[in-house]
Amino acid sequence: MKKALVTGISGQDGSYLTELLLSKGYQVHGMIRRSSTFNTGRIDHIYRDPHNGDKTRLLLHHGDLASSVSLANLISEIEPDEIYNLAAQSHVRVSFDLPEYTGDVTGIGTLRILEAIRRSGIDTRFYQASTSEMFGGAAPPQTEATPFAPQSPYAAAKTYAHWVTKNYREAYGIFACSGILFNHESPRRGETFVTRKVTRAVAAIKAGKQKHLYLGNLDAKRDWGYAPEYVEVMWRLLQHGEPLDIVIGTGESRTVREFLEEAFGYVGLDYQDYVRIDERYFRPTEVDYLLADPRMAREVLGWEPKIKFKDLVRIMMDADLELLGLEAPGDGKRLLSDRFDGWHRWDDQLVSMDK
Ligand SMILES: NC(=O)c1ccc[n+]([C@@H]2O[C@H](COP(=O)([O-])OP(=O)(O)OC[C@H]3O[C@@H](n4cnc5c(N)ncnc54)[C@H](OP(=O)(O)O)[C@@H]3O)[C@@H](O)[C@H]2O)c1
Repeated sequence: MKKALVTGISGQDGSYLTELLLSKGYQVHGMIRRSSTFNTGRIDHIYRDPHNGDKTRLLLHHGDLASSVSLANLISEIEPDEIYNLAAQSHVRVSFDLPEYTGDVTGIGTLRILEAIRRSGIDTRFYQASTSEMFGGAAPPQTEATPFAPQSPYAAAKTYAHWVTKNYREAYGIFACSGILFNHESPRRGETFVTRKVTRAVAAIKAGKQKHLYLGNLDAKRDWGYAPEYVEVMWRLLQHGEPLDIVIGTGESRTVREFLEEAFGYVGLDYQDYVRIDERYFRPTEVDYLLADPRMAREVLGWEPKIKFKDLVRIMMDADLELLGLEAPGDGKRLLSDRFDGWHRWDDQLVSMDK
């Protein structure tokens, strides 16, 4: 049985990746950080408490990207075949408020893992969660050859992590790869990220629980994809014959305003009646236009996204409407059952881990 270690297992991507790995027969070790409240809501549906006599292939361990000791101990004790580093202070706007912490966790945290791998001497494959934010001000479309121009402490920290991953590959022969992922969303996206903030607010407005939605830059253009499809490419990258860095996106870019039109329009509302601008949500330096050229992912890994912008909005809207007990049009659910024939279903009932 293959063993994987996943940092950031309690996040959006960590939860989907864990479902994927369990469905492929892996034993999954997840690193969670200590918190005064439970932070495992996204993986509770797949966790089985061994104290109840349940067999489980999902094991959780406390650790932190700020602690070399915890990382070194986990890696030498588990001896994973694959390590997915998804943990990060991952919010761009917040990184302007917490620049030092973001640099430490998102940047140096990656170095701590690589150094633990090197010192342990184990034969493992390493995935680094790089980001399109590293392209920052670079002209679109962005490819593997586009020079980085980071525009935030988050992007600068991720750029460091990206380069040090490449350096450990070249210097020490570690099978270390980076997926340069453009924005990817889902019903599990954190509530403060713009897409989820919008879909939650539309549902709350429809339910009569909220009057207005406050946002920043509506003209930013992003290449938005569906998270479960993106975690599959992380896994494929580590199964590839050689380590490499690769751009993952849909090849389609839309503004935040278009996202609003689509989400409000889905329930018959006009976003202009509800959206207000709050200067606090603008970043000191903005990233205007991100658009992936995902040709290499298609040619080298045979990966192509099935869920594009409009479908994504519907999937997220259906989920947030249902969360508030409202009747959802159901287009998103139908799309998923038609087009997404893989291991994941949006309502999370698919994975059985006790085989
Ligand atoms: N989603 C995107 O569009 C996108 C695009 C490109 C790259 N990325 C990168 O891909 C990764 C996964 O994204 P995501 O959307 O799943 O992010 P997310 O939902 O914000 O999850 C981040 C995870 O990191 C954990 N974490 C934060 N600080 C930590 C620390 N000091 N030590 C250990 N764990 C820590 C969080 O734990 P808690 O649950 O305790 O907070 C959470 O599990 C991130 O590295 C992100 O920067 C994301």
